[in-house]
Amino acid sequence: MHASSRSIATNQTGPHEDLGRRVARALEHPLRKPVAEHTRTAFESARAWLAARPGVPLVLDAGCGVGLSTRRLAWRLPDHAVIGVDRSESRLSREHGPLPDNALLLRADLVDFWRLALEDGWRPVRHYLLYPNPYPKAAHLKMRWHGHPVLPVILALGGRLELRSNWRLYVEEFALALTQVCGREATAVPHEPIDDDYLTPFEQKYHASGQELWKLVVDLPHEPGLVPGWGDA
Ligand SMILES: C[S@@+](CC[C@H](N)C(=O)[O-])C[C@H]1O[C@@H](n2cnc3c(N)ncnc32)[C@H](O)[C@@H]1O
Repeated sequence: MHASSRSIATNQTGPHEDLGRRVARALEHPLRKPVAEHTRTAFESARAWLAARPGVPLVLDAGCGVGLSTRRLAWRLPDHAVIGVDRSESRLSREHGPLPDNALLLRADLVDFWRLALEDGWRPVRHYLLYPNPYPKAAHLKMRWHGHPVLPVILALGGRLELRSNWRLYVEEFALALTQVCGREATAVPHEPIDDDYLTPFEQKYHASGQELWKLVVDLPHEPGLVPGWGDA
């Protein structure tokens, strides 16, 4: 791990002016993108894995990269079932030691995986979005999770949602979107790893480069009705 990592370069000076419109659109129009077959298959294997652990609380590590955070969460929460999801085969296949029995790593597209999870009634008790791709150019707002049509699905799953980023504005925008969707207030607060207790490689890399880290933590109810078209036959 190298100790220098470039800080975020963005052409935004504050929250994106289209954020409110993007979120409103996500609340009005159902996401109709068909679910990719590889994600459906991965989801089925996760379902079977969970079915073998009845009653065990679920933790989702969304965009888990190489899966170190999934391992660390599983060690910290031995009585939970921790599922790490990432679309990158090359990241997931890097060797990072044995996977604890209560952890599962899956290659899948989160946009599809989250929808399948909500349809199947999943209720994660914790849901981590750790250092998502920032897409810092203003033109890329729709690729940030809070600018994406899948946002209501992420929030509808409920549980204790924790977002971390090295870009304060990403977390602040997410907080604005959260208020718009759920009427809930959450604040971007500094995240200080204690005793170099890093959860992810990106966290370690950014911290070692002297960058500030930010997070938002919010407890959300399970609320599928947030998703437009939910319950329509
Ligand atoms: C900046 S990396 C952070 C990885 C890890 N959380 C960490 O902090 O080290 C963002 C990760 O999100 C994954 N990702 C982005 N969009 C995704 C999607 N639609 N479905 C699944 N994974 C996705 C990428 O493959 C990448 O591994």
